[in-house]
Amino acid sequence: MAALHTLWMGLVLLGVLGVLQTRVQAQASLQPNFQQDKFLGRWFTSGLASNSSWFREKKSALSMCTSVVAPATDGGLNLTTTFLRRDQCETRTLLLRPAETPGCYSYTSPHWGSTHDVRVVETNYEEYALLYTAGTRGLGQDFHMATLYSRTQTPRAEVKEKFTTFAKTRGFTEDAIVFLPKTDKCVEEHS
Ligand SMILES: *[C@@H]1O[C@H](CO)[C@@H](O)[C@H](O)[C@H]1NC(C)=O
Ligand SMILES: *[C@@H]1O[C@H](CO)[C@@H](O)[C@H](O)[C@H]1NC(C)=O
Repeated sequence: MAALHTLWMGLVLLGVLGVLQTRVQAQASLQPNFQQDKFLGRWFTSGLASNSSWFREKKSALSMCTSVVAPATDGGLNLTTTFLRRDQCETRTLLLRPAETPGCYSYTSPHWGSTHDVRVVETNYEEYALLYTAGTRGLGQDFHMATLYSRTQTPRAEVKEKFTTFAKTRGFTEDAIVFLPKTDKCVEEHS
């Protein structure tokens, strides 16, 4: 009877742990004690990995873009990205609403109506940041994306390695990971 009880307890515990493990794996981790004020300012998008069909088609044509991160009035972030498109500099602003935990944000695309969860997985604020985005409930298919932000246009090899490792743990294959080539165009001088 005691043996049966132990077996049963064991199975229950295994079951609980199994559930916990799947939850942990489903969500990317988060920078502990995230400090939003230190995350502000200019970043270069120097690495990307995504399984969206848009990315698969365009990845070889992409070049590095600049994002300026500013605080938004609701406590979230105003992300202004400048990039080169058909030889012209274009600017897009994304407003990231704050989510329950510092470092987590949500973004609703006004165009597609899709909701994206954006989280800062790891950053040292001064050199790099690893971001993870999961897009859900869109018109198209769900997608996920890993982004490498770098304070300079030439991230160190160790930082690139960190990004590759991170993207692989999120399930991206080597061919889905790209480092964007540096460009002199569309780099804002001030800020
Ligand atoms: C976001 O930042 C851009 C660039 O500084 C600015 O033009 C825009 O008004 C800001 N939007 C909001 C809602 O704060
Ligand atoms: C991308 O990956 C996510 C998470 O693994 C999956 O739910 C989604 O269906 C994939 N989307 C495409 C377009 O392959």
